[in-house]
Amino acid sequence: MLQEVVATRYVTPLREGGSLPGIVEADDLGTYVMKFTGAGQGRKTLVAEVICGQLGRRLGLRVPDLAQMQLDPVIGLAEPDQEVQELLKASGGLNLGMDFLPGSLGFDALAYQVGPREAGRVVWFDALINNVDRSWRNPNMLIWHGDLWLIDHGATMIWHHNWPGAQASAAKAYNASDHALAPFAPDVAAAAAELAPLVTEDLLTEVAADVPDEWLVDEPGFDSTDQLRRAYVEALLPRAATIHERITLDGPTADKPSQAPGWLTERLVPRRDTENSDESGRS
Ligand SMILES: Nc1ncnc2c1ncn2[C@@H]1O[C@H](COP(=O)(O)OP(=O)(O)OP(=O)(O)O)[C@@H](O)[C@H]1O
Ligand SMILES: [Mg+2]
Repeated sequence: MLQEVVATRYVTPLREGGSLPGIVEADDLGTYVMKFTGAGQGRKTLVAEVICGQLGRRLGLRVPDLAQMQLDPVIGLAEPDQEVQELLKASGGLNLGMDFLPGSLGFDALAYQVGPREAGRVVWFDALINNVDRSWRNPNMLIWHGDLWLIDHGATMIWHHNWPGAQASAAKAYNASDHALAPFAPDVAAAAAELAPLVTEDLLTEVAADVPDEWLVDEPGFDSTDQLRRAYVEALLPRAATIHERITLDGPTADKPSQAPGWLTERLVPRRDTENSDESGRS
C-alpha cells in the first residue's frame, strides 16, 4: 500500500509538465509533486505512475516515493490562476503524490555522464514498461545529490488503453533509438540478465495491488478491480522475459541519421570516440 497523506497547502504549479502537476505540502510535513485525477490525461496516467514507479523502485532504480494524496479543493482558493483553480476543483478526493526532490536539476546529456550499466538498466526498464516519454526531447529524469532519478511514468504501458489487444501489443518491440540515454552505450544485455529474473508474478501482483481501487473500477470488459490488476501482471510478466531481444538501439548511420538535433549528436558521439581511442592507445 502507498502511504496516505492529506494535502494541506497548494504551493505552486509546475508549468513544464503537460498535465500541470503542482507542488503541494501535506499533513506529514512532506512536500510532494501532486498529479491530479482531474487532468486531461485521465486516471490511467496515474495507474501507470503507480505500477511503473513501484516496479522501478522494487528493481532498485531511483524513483521518488509515491503517496496517495487526499485533496480538498478548498486549499487552492487563494490560487489566482484560473486553470489551476479548475484543475483543483475537478480533482477533489484521491490524487497521486510523488516526493518532491528539492534542488534537483533536469537531466542534461551534455552535463551529466551516465555509465553503460546504469544506462542499460534504465533503457531495459523503459522497454519493459514501453515508456515513450524518456527521449532526448523530454528526458523525464532528474539529477539530485549527484544521482539520476526517474520521474513521470504516465505515458507507459500503451496496452492499457486497449485491453482486447493487450497481449499482442505487449509482445511488440521497443525502439530506444531516441531514448535520452541511447548515446551512453547502454548495456541492455547485462541489465536484462540482472533485472528480468526479479520481475516475478509475485512482484508484479504486489505492485498492481498498490493501485487504489478507485482508479481501476468500471473498466469495460472487467468484472472486478482484481481482474484488471491481473491483466497488468499478465502483460508485463512475459514481456520481462524476452523484451531485451526486441530493443532497437541503433546509433545514427549515414542512411538513418538520428532525429536528435545536430548540436546534441555532434557533441556527444565524438566525445565517446575520443575516450575510446585514448583507452586503446590510439589518439
Ligand atoms: N519529484 C519531483 N521533484 C522535483 N521536481 C519534479 C518532480 N517531479 C516532477 N518534477 C518537475 O516537474 C516537471 C513536470 O513533471 P512531470 O514530467 O512528471 O509532469 P507531466 O505533466 O507528466 O509532464 P509531461 O509534460 O512530460 O507529460 C518535471 O519536468 C520536473 O521539472
Ligand atoms: Mg514530464
